[in-house]
Amino acid sequence: MPGSGLILGIESSCDETAAAVVERGARTLSSVVASQIATHARYGGVVPELASREHLRAVVPVVRAALAQAGVTLADLDAIAVTNGPGLAGALLVGITYAKALAFANGLPLIAVNHLEGHIHAVLLNERSLERSGPDGQATADLEEALALVVSGGHTHLYLATPTDGSWHYALIGRTLDDAAGEAFDKVAKLLGLGYPGGPWIDNLAIHGNPKAVPFAFSHIKTKLHLAGAAPRTKAAKTAPIAALDPHFLFSFSGIKTAVLRYVELHNLKPEAESRREALFTGIDAPVRPTVEDALAQCEPQTLDLIASFQHAVVGDLLKKTFAAAESLGVRRILVTGGVAANRELRARFTAEASRRNVSVSFPTLALSTDNAAMIAAAAWPRYVAKEFAKSDLSADPSLALGR
Ligand code: KG4
Ligand code: ZN
Repeated sequence: MPGSGLILGIESSCDETAAAVVERGARTLSSVVASQIATHARYGGVVPELASREHLRAVVPVVRAALAQAGVTLADLDAIAVTNGPGLAGALLVGITYAKALAFANGLPLIAVNHLEGHIHAVLLNERSLERSGPDGQATADLEEALALVVSGGHTHLYLATPTDGSWHYALIGRTLDDAAGEAFDKVAKLLGLGYPGGPWIDNLAIHGNPKAVPFAFSHIKTKLHLAGAAPRTKAAKTAPIAALDPHFLFSFSGIKTAVLRYVELHNLKPEAESRREALFTGIDAPVRPTVEDALAQCEPQTLDLIASFQHAVVGDLLKKTFAAAESLGVRRILVTGGVAANRELRARFTAEASRRNVSVSFPTLALSTDNAAMIAAAAWPRYVAKEFAKSDLSADPSLALGR
């Protein structure tokens, strides 16, 4: 096998166009992310048609920048990896089409990577980069099974990830029945007149409120009763048989979003949210790019308490179910990844709980928590070693599942 070990990763599944060069799944030579936040912010969410258009504009310069920053050319690469799902069909196709063309023109193998597996490898990449090696030279990151919580704007999934001879296998343990945790952050932020994406706003404002002020509760999910044994018709349900999963490890975040809405209506906080939105984003005096201080100046203590309580409840639910799943599976290693893994309260409470229970918990670097291509190139490395290459008819699979 040729020896540079360099893989170019390309990611375009949602609203970030990203490219990165990673060596042997362990050393990041470059990671370039062109965010479309400015395009989608005014709509309060990702508009698929606009996403495809922005990916088309960005993909060539972003790949060029990734190669230039890594100080390599296409001729130095061993392979090209691209996200083939899950995600927005049109957005995925932009990355796939360009990756295919580059691979074909340069005689390089193409590797298809599941976006969710990519998120898990964002943590493994971090661990491999610490350059600890096992007895056979394999990174210790690739030796021990782990429970992975992938928690982002599109997913809240728990996987048992098991390494076998360097390849990773995934079994779905739990997931959300409706909204993803990040989606709840985004919707609550929108409701409160804060910016998009909502997670970072809520993260930054929550520290100024009382997390115990509003006692949000998550009810226990009874799948058998609720589903009568059949999969529900939610968009997430297309990808896995919910009825087969232990209800203790299922999540549901649409209820808390409604509970926040009720609280806002009951306490007449809507006018405040409207004027906050106006002041921060649409008014004549709106700052060009509002800062946390700008937002803080627009929040009454009651709103800050609501924000802190919402975040505390969501993090608490993620924590409770993840550690319960780890204990029930007898797994002593937890990986938490995806955009919501950037959340400070989440990192602090997961770290404290892990040390209390004497298990390990790891996160990606902050930059690699949200969508990026270094995680795609890292996830492709074991596939490259195993010679698992994509066929020339590779296409986008918007509802691609991991570990059914
Ligand atoms: O992984 P990601 O970039 O894209 C998806 O695959 O969805 O995750 C984006 C999500 C958004 O919902 C965003 O609000 C959330 O991650 N997020 C956060 C934080 N940073 C991003 N949620 C909570 N706290 C944060 N600091
Ligand atoms: Zn993602």
